[in-house]
Amino acid sequence: MNAPRKNEYGQKVLIDSEEIHAGIRQMGQRIADNYRDEPLTVIGCLKGSFIFMADLVRAIPRPLHIDFIEVSSYGNDLQSTGNVRIVKDFKHPVENSHVLIVEDIVDTGLTFDFLFEHIRLKKPASLEIATLLVRRSVDQEMRPVKYSCFTIGEEYVVGYGLDAAGLYRNLDHVAVFDAPV
Ligand code: PRP
Repeated sequence: MNAPRKNEYGQKVLIDSEEIHAGIRQMGQRIADNYRDEPLTVIGCLKGSFIFMADLVRAIPRPLHIDFIEVSSYGNDLQSTGNVRIVKDFKHPVENSHVLIVEDIVDTGLTFDFLFEHIRLKKPASLEIATLLVRRSVDQEMRPVKYSCFTIGEEYVVGYGLDAAGLYRNLDHVAVFDAPV
């Protein structure tokens, strides 16, 4: 058996850059096939989605509108505060347009709930989510995650947009962060 891959910080590499890009290529084509010529607005949820969003939209070979919303529930903590708030709202009108939310991770699902409720009020033609990561523990009957690249367990992950206290977002891979106890 091969030794676990480690990154420059000694963190275990969970998903490397090549695996991420292969997953994104597949997801992008699936999204393009599903929406065909319908109007589509892709809304990235900042900050965590910024790298995934940039790569995913370039893998969707069709015209689309791009906007961003910034919400926060974790602040600088490793645990969700359970209280999602809007830091910056999106601007593009989405009534009668299909909307695809882009997330780095669906973790507890609280942000998912908040975003769906918030965007549904603007009467989009449809509303779905595309995420790089989804926790295995997410109840997909209650929170259907239409597009996800990777399902992960309970490990605290960083990289490719995901942070620990604001750090490690710029890794080109997803790694396991061992929080100091
Ligand atoms: C993270 C992540 C998701 C959300 C998922 O955002 O980017 O938006 O948490 O967690 P949940 O499913 O438990 O709600 P965070 O609030 O840490 O802000 P950030 O994107 O700026 O890192």
